[in-house]
Amino acid sequence: MIASAPGKVILFGEHAVVYGRHAIVSAINLRCYAKAEKFSDVVIESPLGKTSLDFDVHPYVSYAIKRFSEIKPIKGVYLKIWSDIPIASGLGSSSAVTVAVLKSLDLLFETNLSREEIFELARRVELDVQGIGSGTDPFISTYGGTWLIPEREKVSIGNLDLTVIYTGKASITSDMVRKVASLREKYKDVVERVFDAIDAISLKSVDALRSCDLETLSFLVRTNQLLLKALGVSCREIDEIVNKLEELGIPAKITGAGGGGSVLALGNVNLEGYRCFNVSLNAEGVREEKV
Ligand code: PMV
Repeated sequence: MIASAPGKVILFGEHAVVYGRHAIVSAINLRCYAKAEKFSDVVIESPLGKTSLDFDVHPYVSYAIKRFSEIKPIKGVYLKIWSDIPIASGLGSSSAVTVAVLKSLDLLFETNLSREEIFELARRVELDVQGIGSGTDPFISTYGGTWLIPEREKVSIGNLDLTVIYTGKASITSDMVRKVASLREKYKDVVERVFDAIDAISLKSVDALRSCDLETLSFLVRTNQLLLKALGVSCREIDEIVNKLEELGIPAKITGAGGGGSVLALGNVNLEGYRCFNVSLNAEGVREEKV
């Protein structure tokens, strides 16, 4: 049985969302795939290696199997995993693999879990591995679509050309969240106002996304990037990409926690020397893949 789940981009609002402000998040057409077959033991085969249940090499997959086994005890399973989504790129690969694995187990062992039950399990796995987490990534990987966070209201979206450019450097979410927290501790009144400005950007983007208002979206993307830079989550690699795109007249911003990871550009572009993905938004959530 094969299942797949999408990665995601944060269009606007990363970091500010940690402090109760709004963000816009969308599932993208890069997916992670999991194939589950009955087997005598647990085997996990992925680009990270071939292991048994292994909470170091395959933490998300191993916890997904563990949590699933609490619902339906299983003796063994052979799981093969492959993915379009670069790891630690701010594109939600951890949640996509978790949700895809849970769905493949659900199909193989005929547990008939609802979408909400898969989300709840994936949410628990996120907490098992990370200790903290907003639950946004497992939500998007499960349900797909485009959402205003934290309300989880659907956002309708026009036909936008977007490119994700991978810096090639890992983005460590917990490090970046901690960095912003210490800046906020030091300069609370200023940093809170930066969050408020980001909040206004996210809210303003709802209409602009619906109507594909490129002039407004360009302003919002550029301003959000400047504010993220002010929060200290940009880096040399990101600035280099953003500047190169700016020379081409293309607005771009960090997507995700920053410090590496990926840049989201408003337009179709192929930047030489980088992994570029022309992404479409609003992708379908977790699903069975028929072969
Ligand atoms: O880089 P990602 O995909 O882990 O996104 C992190 C987004 C933050 O706002 C920085 C943290 C969060 O939990 O919302």
